[in-house]
Formats: sequence, C-alpha cells, structure tokens
Amino acid sequence: MKFTRRGFIQNVGLGTAAGVISGTSLLSPIINAQTREAAMAGVFDGGVIQLNQNESARGPGPKTMQAIHSAISKRIGRGYAPDYLRELQASIIDHFDVGADNVLMSTGSTPILQGTVRAFCGADKPLVTAAPSFTTSEQTARQIGAAVKVIPLDSHLNIDLDAMVAASIGAGMVYLCNPNNPTGTVHGLAAMEAAIREIVRRSPTTKILVDEAYIDYVDASVMQTALPLAKEFSNVIIARTFSKAHGMAGLRVGYGLADSGTLDEINSAWGMGDVNMIGAIAALTAFEDTDHIAWERQENSEIRAFTVGALNDMGFDVPESHTNHIFPNLKRPASVVRAACIKSGISVGRDFPPLQETHCRISLGSREEMEKAVAVFRAVLS
Ligand SMILES: Cc1ncc(COP(=O)(O)O)c(C=O)c1O
Repeated sequence: MKFTRRGFIQNVGLGTAAGVISGTSLLSPIINAQTREAAMAGVFDGGVIQLNQNESARGPGPKTMQAIHSAISKRIGRGYAPDYLRELQASIIDHFDVGADNVLMSTGSTPILQGTVRAFCGADKPLVTAAPSFTTSEQTARQIGAAVKVIPLDSHLNIDLDAMVAASIGAGMVYLCNPNNPTGTVHGLAAMEAAIREIVRRSPTTKILVDEAYIDYVDASVMQTALPLAKEFSNVIIARTFSKAHGMAGLRVGYGLADSGTLDEINSAWGMGDVNMIGAIAALTAFEDTDHIAWERQENSEIRAFTVGALNDMGFDVPESHTNHIFPNLKRPASVVRAACIKSGISVGRDFPPLQETHCRISLGSREEMEKAVAVFRAVLS
C-alpha cells in the first residue's frame, strides 16, 4: 500500500424505534402515542422478530451505549466537524498500522461498495461477483450499465475462488465477500492470498474489493483479514462496517482501507456521506471495547449452534456459518418459508438466486428470539 434514513416508517404501526422518535410530526397523535409506548416497552417492528436483515438483536455493548448517552447534549448543535471523528480515525490508523490517507470513513460500508463499482467498473470493465453473495456491488453495476460476470458458488456453497480468478482477466473489479453473505462461509487467508496474487498477476489493472463486514464474528483461527494484501497491492480494498457485530446498523458507520490513490478514486466517484458525532463516539468506543466483541462473538456462536442443531434435528443441512446468519437447505422455496413464518411473527430472509427454491437465509437474533423462532420452524417445516 502506498501508505502514507432508510425511509423512517415502513408502515404506520410497524415503525422502528428510530422512526417512532424521529417521525413524531408525521404521525397522528394517537398512533404516535401507541408506537412510542411500544418502543418504550421494547416492542419494535410491530412485535415481529426480524431475522431478515443480518442486524444485531443485542445492539451496542454497555460501554458504547454509555458513550452514546453521554454524547447526547447541546453540543450536537456544533457538528459539521464532528467531535470524536478524528479520534476514531486515529484509533483505526493505529490499530491497523496504516497511514492517515489509507482510511476512508463512510456512512456504513454501503457507500464504499457503491463507490468502488462506480470508480472501477463500466460497460467494458465488468464486475466479477459470486452468487449468491451480497448484492450491493452487483446492483450498482447494473444501475450504471456496467457488465457483470456472476460466478456460482461451488458445491459446498463456498465462493469458487478459482472460477473468480479465471473470470477476473480484464475485469474492472472482483467483489469477494469474506465471510460470504448469505452463506456465512469463509476462506482463510492462505486461500484469499493465493487468489488475490493470481488476479494481480494475470490482470494487473483489476481492483479487488474484499468485504469483511462479518469478520468480527469469526474465530481468528479460521480466517484473518486480507489487509496485508491491501498494504502490498494498490488494487486491493478492504471494506469494514460497525453495523454487524458492533450492533450499530442504525448509526451508519463504515470505512475502507486501501492505497491512498485508490481511495481517492473511490471518493471522487461517489459520496461517502458524513459520519455524525454520535456515530463517531459510538464507533470509537465499540472499536476499542475488544472484551465486548469477544463476548458478542461467543454469544452469537452459542445461539448459532443452538439454531443449527435444531435445524439439523429436523433433517436440514446447514453450511458451516461463521457469521450472524445461516443459510439452511430447507428443501422448499424461501418464499414459502417466509410466508408461513410471518404468520407466526417471524420474518426470515429474502430470495438469494439461484438458490431461492431450496435455501433460506435466517439471521440470528437473541437467545429468546431464536427459541421462539425454532418453535415456529418446527411447526412450519414439519
Ligand atoms: C456483506 C455485507 N457488506 C456490507 C453490508 C452493508 O452494511 P452497512 O452499509 O450497514 O455497513 C452488508 C449489510 O447487510 C453486508 O451484508
């Protein structure tokens, strides 16, 4: 490396807590009072258990919650150069041992995913992506009329790195989601390094975006960050987010790590948004609270083992997940599972072509939520 609001109310009465609070003037007083009361009682989303978006049921850890509360003051009136943002950047720089120009902050990692495609792909510079995988890069490519090469997962539902390498020649960018969403599967550093080196060797102008949104859920013995490759090659970009294990999807903080020139190209191609003061203090606290992340990883892994065990008992295979979501083969269309589960107040994932006729992504909620969900799965899938 040359290192130097989502729509705030989906449905009146089914508003999120944030929507309830920010939407006061647009709701009738009666509904507003009801939804506010529900939010105060901790009943969100109209009581539906949301296992559909890979969010965090637990939210930020106690230290981060305390930091958020302490930052809510009249000081918010002075936020164009938000307090704590420099400290957050400094902490990231220090932790990853990179230069100040090698970090690009963004409002969640979505703008990094969008900006990379806009910067590096086009009609004659295809995006190479896996299927099923996270689709923001592919959607962006289609929006701008860029060519897309979609590479199916292998028979174990792992990203087929050899096929991705083969497809990369002449590509604008290769999107590697590691761990992969929706499967939860991972490639270790050795496999990622071999693939990335091969792409750089065979197609030196191709960029490689490694999306590590779920890395904080993964045991370090299973996978490590591809950051050393980003330090070595200006082609490689790492995307990170505070939306997953740090439980901050509603605060919108993410970042990219790459060569400074590469980050400049991304930043010029698409707006990264402005990280706000509350998001910055929350992310700074969460980033440094390594004990909490270790706890979160363990909690998620126990909940995952419980859920996978129950599905296995019911006779369903589940690819080995290292994330906060699983992708079981339920032997029926995801749409059928979704329609049946929602009747019992459980919302599960959308379709993930080409496996939508057999597999369904289930995000992992809290212990209590998964106990309820498993009871519903038993009834619906029997
Ligand atoms: C693999 C992956 N990358 C990136 C994102 C974007 O998340 P955010 O913009 O909240 O950082 C998601 C969200 O679900 C994801 O699953």
